Amino acid sequence: MIPACSVTDLPPGESVRIQADVPIAVFNADGDLYAIDDTCSHQDASLSDGWLEGCFVECPLHAALFDLRTGMPSCLPAKKPVRTHMVLVHDGYIYVDTSAHERVPEHTAEPVRASEAVA
Ligand code: FES
Repeated sequence: MIPACSVTDLPPGESVRIQADVPIAVFNADGDLYAIDDTCSHQDASLSDGWLEGCFVECPLHAALFDLRTGMPSCLPAKKPVRTHMVLVHDGYIYVDTSAHERVPEHTAEPVRASEAVA
């Protein structure tokens, strides 16, 4: 389990990058928390620096859109998915679990509601 930040430090529309075996981006998409690999599958851009549009993030370099639920790109130039990761909240703190992950494109991350997690 990798600690990310407190729930209050990640308001809706914001993201944070944390370091695991690879960088991970954690997003608050209108109250739903998601974690994906931070590095775009197209080139070397940080998705945590991108723009949230609902449950999609737009890459800041060439504007590919990634679905935070599946990691799949919905438009070019990205063609490959990024990994999604499980998000957990305990005592108001956000954690990311990358251990159970396999690189499976169909993997879908279940969101955690930030509001449900606040004690
Ligand atoms: S680096 Fe992300 S779309 Fe090109």
